[in-house]
Amino acid sequence: MEVTAIYPGTFDPMTLGHIDVALRAGKMFDRLIIAIAESPNKKPHFDLDERAAMANEIMQEHASIEIQSFDGLLVDLAQRINARVIVRGLRAISDFDYEVQIAGVNRHLAPDVETVFIAASHDYTFLSSSIVREIASFGGDYSEFVHPVVVSAFNRKGR
Ligand code: COA
Repeated sequence: MEVTAIYPGTFDPMTLGHIDVALRAGKMFDRLIIAIAESPNKKPHFDLDERAAMANEIMQEHASIEIQSFDGLLVDLAQRINARVIVRGLRAISDFDYEVQIAGVNRHLAPDVETVFIAASHDYTFLSSSIVREIASFGGDYSEFVHPVVVSAFNRKGR
């Protein structure tokens, strides 16, 4: 049976840490959907279309990885597209409590959808989208943390 997995996040913007998790998850499942959440409560710097366009361009050469935007509940999207797995990256022990809590809520809402955690590569354990945005906002060099597509997007949109 083919297994579809979802890798959800706000991806404001996608970092090399996210790409690392996505590519490793992509090898584990037949199909991986990177699900870009609208996340209005986070007041994203890049709007949903911009975040999805960046992710599409970054992932274009990976045929088994698709990009989909969503609002509402993640488990509703999972059920709509028949995904049985949610992938989340774990960077450090500090991620653990929150991630286990969310996995519990999602399992309660959709018992057939399993959450799988992938340990982030050591190089990226300190990295987050807000750190990238913060460095960018002060004019610092964040280019080693993101795909060049993200640098172009910051240059277009401003920091
Ligand atoms: N590399 C780099 N950064 C990583 C990372 C990795 N491997 N893994 C996580 N991060 C970062 C993210 O970029 C994010 O950074 P930021 O806060 O600086 O933007 C942070 O770690 C994790 O943020 P979090 O809020 O946990 O996740 P998210 O914003 O990426 O995604 C959703 C959260 C979208 C998955 C979740 O809110 C969701 O499912 N929303 C839909 C509604 C729903 O169903 N809720 C669940 C029931 S309560």
